[in-house]
Amino acid sequence: MKTFLILSGLFALAMGTALPAHHNLKMKNVDASFVEYQKKVLSLFEHSEQLDLHSEYYKVGKEYSIEDHIDNYTNKKAVEEFLMLYRTGFLPKYHKFSIFYERMRNEAIALFHVFFYAKDFETFYKTASWAKVYLNEEQFLYAYYIALFQRPDTNGIVLPAPYEVYPQFFFNQEALFNMYRTKMQGGLFDEKFAAEYGVVKENDYYVFYSNYSNSLTYPNEEYKMSYFTEDIGLNSYYFYFHSSLPFWWQSEKLGMYKERVGEIFVYYYQKLLARYYLERLSNGLGEVPKFSWYSQFKTGYYPQLTGNYLPFVQRSNDYDIHTERNYENIRFLDTYEKTFFQFLQKGDFQNFEKEINEIGNYFHMNTTKELHQFSYEIIARHVLGGSPKPIDKYSFMPTALDFYQTSLRDPAFYQLYQRIIDYLIDYKEYVKPYSYNDLHFVGVKINDVKVDKLVTYFDYFDFNTTNSVFYSQEELKSYPTSFVIRQPRLNHEPFTINIDLKSDVASDAVFKIFIGPKYDSNGYPVKIEEDWMKFYEMDWFVQKLVPGENNIQRKSSDFMFFKDDSIPINEIFQWLDQGKVPFDMSYAPTNMPRRLMLPKGTYGGFPFQMFVFVYPYNGVTKETEVFKHFVNDNKPLGYPFDRPINDYAYFKQPNMYFEDVQVYHKDAYFPYELNVPSYFTQKKM
Ligand SMILES: *[C@@H]1O[C@H](CO)[C@@H](O)[C@H](O)[C@H]1NC(C)=O
Ligand SMILES: *[C@@H]1O[C@H](CO)[C@@H](O)[C@H](O)[C@H]1NC(C)=O
Ligand SMILES: *[C@@H]1O[C@H](CO)[C@@H](O)[C@H](O)[C@H]1NC(C)=O
Ligand SMILES: *[C@@H]1O[C@H](CO)[C@@H](O)[C@H](O)[C@H]1NC(C)=O
Repeated sequence: MKTFLILSGLFALAMGTALPAHHNLKMKNVDASFVEYQKKVLSLFEHSEQLDLHSEYYKVGKEYSIEDHIDNYTNKKAVEEFLMLYRTGFLPKYHKFSIFYERMRNEAIALFHVFFYAKDFETFYKTASWAKVYLNEEQFLYAYYIALFQRPDTNGIVLPAPYEVYPQFFFNQEALFNMYRTKMQGGLFDEKFAAEYGVVKENDYYVFYSNYSNSLTYPNEEYKMSYFTEDIGLNSYYFYFHSSLPFWWQSEKLGMYKERVGEIFVYYYQKLLARYYLERLSNGLGEVPKFSWYSQFKTGYYPQLTGNYLPFVQRSNDYDIHTERNYENIRFLDTYEKTFFQFLQKGDFQNFEKEINEIGNYFHMNTTKELHQFSYEIIARHVLGGSPKPIDKYSFMPTALDFYQTSLRDPAFYQLYQRIIDYLIDYKEYVKPYSYNDLHFVGVKINDVKVDKLVTYFDYFDFNTTNSVFYSQEELKSYPTSFVIRQPRLNHEPFTINIDLKSDVASDAVFKIFIGPKYDSNGYPVKIEEDWMKFYEMDWFVQKLVPGENNIQRKSSDFMFFKDDSIPINEIFQWLDQGKVPFDMSYAPTNMPRRLMLPKGTYGGFPFQMFVFVYPYNGVTKETEVFKHFVNDNKPLGYPFDRPINDYAYFKQPNMYFEDVQVYHKDAYFPYELNVPSYFTQKKM
């Protein structure tokens, strides 16, 4: 990602809407040409599953021909490849699209190339309009999101939240059915009766209270985690991770990332799993279970999601992985893992940066290899998803693991990626640990760290699901009624961390703040030598130290690795008319939702520990400037928890501080309590 075009004044403004979620939204000023681009970009996201025959994009797209304008693309070969593929037939409209099937993937990549190589914004917009009119809806959106991430001229453009664009990936079909029914019967017959099912009319739109999955979906203990694994912001976070760094993208753009893309992959998953583990602890669950390709897979999952006309595949508890259908795949996966072990046993490792990148790539992407169907990740997803063999190149039974929007819902996802991370940690055992001196900061001592009381709670979050309902062309002109899903989501009260530090030097220093487990699931204190990878990095900042006492206050609202919730498309349009866009949506779309910073905790307080680490700031090298969303200084990602720790003593240095904390949960303990009709009909928002 290049530098951002427009980064002028920043404003904090409250907007006069009924929604409680968006006060103090930080805005960014943009100029007129940005506003024009932004509006065009957004128009193609509206009515995502149908065409608006009165729209501008329809007129543009209907008439446009890529072939006639081939001179307006900077890579003619890529355009010709696309056209060749297109002439042999593309995924039909209204089919489900998954990047994990070969033909659909090749088409999507070819389409992306045409978007990417359009020589200017006008050509890009025309090409995208054409694709919106003629191609499969989800395939179009897939390539379009990624193009917007990767094109230099759309840098900083605000992308609508995927849960508004394809809402049906983000909630259970019960609510979808209620929406269809409300729409078809033209409203509610009996308001009291409707409220029993969580349907309420507010002003000129309908609200659908929606529960997370329960033990019907997760026939095991995993249902306790559903408020987290089904959180729309968390699932968007994963979708954006892929869109910003698709595993198949290997052109010049990636050239800049090439040296660190494998490391980014390792860091991302280690961090996601660390955060997930903290949430498991809060729910009385322990380690992510391990599995073998040759035994039954214990953890079943019955998603309540629906494809356009096919239901999602269900996997029972004790699912037999090693059956005839999978023999070949398992042989592949097993060999792949063994090859990795052999590589480790050769064991002469010298260059961490190079190696971590290579082994990350080994499991994730290979910048020289185009045979993605022989990718470990893809095959493992198919095996664990449990879907029957597709009958042709387009007809497959969807599983949650087939889409980045839904993968995080399936407990198998975490078990698979924990397995991959465990392999990578096996490599890290060979890496030379940091020495006392590596971690030391001469003349700097943290005397004390004070953390405010940490409190989490559930609050309602509304998201506009109008895109999952179908309208007549007449209705589309004005949107007579719209549809909103209201879900309780985890949140926390803002808190401050006070760091009391004495310095003998004047220096720029980096501060890092982590949260980690205090006790393991058996109730014993964690040993940092064994559990270093379970510390979740929350903040990174640079601060000038002065000789003497330094009092540093850091607010959770400033923590580096998080972003505010996205705002709805119609509100983005309102802000654009004032020449503004939401800062986080433009600048840090790939960050973790701020509301999920802290694990849920318990009423009486659940013990965790915070780790504060300060070290000298050395800036970034010129080459790493392009990764500034991932890389902030010249240290490995996740430093110092990027490799095993030999001796705890090294972590008991004056420039480090462990502080015990408790996370308290208040009010409704389970999110469904907010969705009980007697609760929400009395307590108006
Ligand atoms: C190419 O793009 C330019 C500028 O966007 C436009 O004026 C011209 O008509 C286009 N030419 C072709 C052949 O499409
Ligand atoms: C949510 O779940 C609770 C507990 O099962 C139930 O009482 C409530 O009616 C549900 N709400 C909706 C809107 O389905
Ligand atoms: C990609 O795959 C090729 C062939 O299997 C291999 O030679 C190369 O080292 C791999 N590259 C990376 C970055 O893993
Ligand atoms: C939902 O989105 C549609 C399309 O952007 C908009 O017209 C409508 O006003 C929105 N509804 C609400 C309640 O925000």
